[in-house]
Amino acid sequence: MSDQYKKLAAERAADDVTSGMRLGIGTGSTAEFFVHALARRVQDGLDVIGVPTSERTRELASSLGIRLTTLDELPELDLTVDGADELDPHLSLIKGGGGALLREKIVASASANMIVIADGSKEVATLGRFPLPIEVVPFGLEATRRAILKVFGDLGLPLNMALRGGSAQPFVTDGGHFILDAQLESIPEVQTLGDRLVAIPGVVEHGLFIELATKAYVAGTDGVKTVLP
Ligand code: A5P
Repeated sequence: MSDQYKKLAAERAADDVTSGMRLGIGTGSTAEFFVHALARRVQDGLDVIGVPTSERTRELASSLGIRLTTLDELPELDLTVDGADELDPHLSLIKGGGGALLREKIVASASANMIVIADGSKEVATLGRFPLPIEVVPFGLEATRRAILKVFGDLGLPLNMALRGGSAQPFVTDGGHFILDAQLESIPEVQTLGDRLVAIPGVVEHGLFIELATKAYVAGTDGVKTVLP
């Protein structure tokens, strides 16, 4: 069922794409529906160029005939379309469940607009039910972990964090980093938490996307609704 809604939201976003657009292309199962919908429009003559947010998306988009480049070649984009793990009513997001949060945030930040596509299960009143991914440098992992836990303690958040993949075989991002997933239950002050996390030297980025999304298409039993921040 949720796949059907992801597809609906993705197709609505593909309808917003016009010829000449420079596109950021997201990562994850919802973004993959977008890539397929976009590819169909490209086959019908739509002329766009895309910057993928992961190697996985690069492979899929390129195999479907979507013209791609890099952010170095095209540092300013018109629109990024991407999924999310959670979105709140202000369109603050948690992203990174698929491990691509760093490139996703760089690409979204280089875009004039960002459309989030999601099924209704991703909507929450307050972010935090989904574990917050924090991308960290492997060097000094334990020191970075402790510094992050100190921030959680200061902000009254649960001290519950795990290395993605486990210590024997940690998950490695496209950028060669590790991910710590923090189970925080509820994040009342997203901006404060985000600012405190990026101030830790071993933290590369976190999965809180604040003031980046300009619109969301959320699909459910009543069809696709548009959410504005
Ligand atoms: C990838 O790193 C993530 O940010 C995805 O955008 C997010 O996990 C949503 O994925 P799904 O569309 O598969 O739910």
